[in-house]
Amino acid sequence: MLIRGTFVQCPKLGELVILSDWLAAVDDSGYITHFENAESSTSLELQRVRTALILPLGTFLLPPFNDLHLHAPQFLYQGTGLDLSLLEWLHQYAFKAEEKLDRDPVLARTVYRRLGQRLVKAGTGAVCLFGTLKGDTNMILAEEMQSTGIRAYVGKVSMDISSRPSYIEASSSTAVDAARAFGEKIEQTYSVTSQSRPSLVHPVITPRFVPTCSDELLHGLGALSAEKGWRIQSHMAESSDQVEWVRKERGEDDIHIFKKHNLLTSRTIQAHCTFISSSSPPSSKPFVDLHALGTAIAHCPLSNIYFSASRAFPLREALEAQIKIGLGTDIAGGYSLDVMSAMRMAVAVSRIREGERVRTVSSDHGKSLAIDWKESLFLATLGGAQALGIDSGIFTVGAPFDAQQIRLFDPRSGIGAGALDFFELEMVVTKCHEESYKKPDLTEEMIEKWWCIGDERNREAVWVQGVKIFG
Ligand code: GUN
Ligand code: FE
Repeated sequence: MLIRGTFVQCPKLGELVILSDWLAAVDDSGYITHFENAESSTSLELQRVRTALILPLGTFLLPPFNDLHLHAPQFLYQGTGLDLSLLEWLHQYAFKAEEKLDRDPVLARTVYRRLGQRLVKAGTGAVCLFGTLKGDTNMILAEEMQSTGIRAYVGKVSMDISSRPSYIEASSSTAVDAARAFGEKIEQTYSVTSQSRPSLVHPVITPRFVPTCSDELLHGLGALSAEKGWRIQSHMAESSDQVEWVRKERGEDDIHIFKKHNLLTSRTIQAHCTFISSSSPPSSKPFVDLHALGTAIAHCPLSNIYFSASRAFPLREALEAQIKIGLGTDIAGGYSLDVMSAMRMAVAVSRIREGERVRTVSSDHGKSLAIDWKESLFLATLGGAQALGIDSGIFTVGAPFDAQQIRLFDPRSGIGAGALDFFELEMVVTKCHEESYKKPDLTEEMIEKWWCIGDERNREAVWVQGVKIFG
């Protein structure tokens, strides 16, 4: 496949690159083999390919979003009960809903199928999922994600203490055995794919969080991940009530407990980490430790607004410590599964800290604590891919062709894509007599406008590993 048009990407934090009239060639396994400017392209191989897919003007390709943290069964009750504290909400909503799906495979399939359809429409190309306790229900989740064609990292939740009596594993050893059996089953089912294409579905070791996992369970899961090389996900230092509970019951903080059990690795994604440092301003020590361990953070600003309300996640400090960070929607602690909401919330929350500056070892006058829209776009794309340890998130030779096609406007027909009516009018009415009307290059301002007011109506297609999965 050959595709020609405007490509937009964030190769590093804060940097946005607009490549007008570029060509990408994609092989049968879904990898980019050529990526270059179309007009100056001298590649004979490309010249021989006659059928390029040419994107209409006013359209651009962007890497799809990576959602690092989403509770699939909680999609059932998305958008309810958020006036409760985290621990109350878990008992009143989360555990009950998850148990319901574990008892009703037909309902589970319905919920997971709809979730997959919604994710694809929202431009999510890779998602790291918390499932439920029961292996079979999580296999349904894996099947539904596989059939959407997105990259899915599926976690069978592990918990052996402090949950509902009817929604808990019998012992730490049976819980570790169940995690092993699930991971092996996923690997057997999804490791073999046709045409040398890589598998898109993978298991993730998923201790829910410290309050529901005994030390024995955490220890067993740490050892299992080391043995198998499987990814790990959990929640760390999410809310003040959770942090206090752990300190009182376990006499230590989350970070020490996870570390002791070998669960903070370069394969680990920890959600939240808002209360990881109890001092104000936050001490950089825990972030330095996480960076040294290679552990990534899923920043979930929308759910933090509800469950961690007394404090904003020290995002700038974590970025300065060079921790791998991406965004998570945290359905249903966050009510929106659209990573565009997560980007906007990440910027909005950080702006409350505007004016304060990060203190570094060498200086008290570092960068603003606020992030801007381009930084959030990096987190949603390449930042998330780096946290997942995948080559996606950027258009470059050797990377898989993962892309979303966004249409801002169509200057030839004068028809814009719904959400950007205002933008369309501006282009058609004010620019139509200018030279640039014939062949407008996209500008950073246009992308910013999409970032602020665009929505699903602007998304025309999504590809993962070279396969069109939407549009
Ligand atoms: N901590 C432990 N379980 C959960 C969950 O389901 N959602 C959120 N937001 N935090 C958690
Ligand atoms: Fe969560």
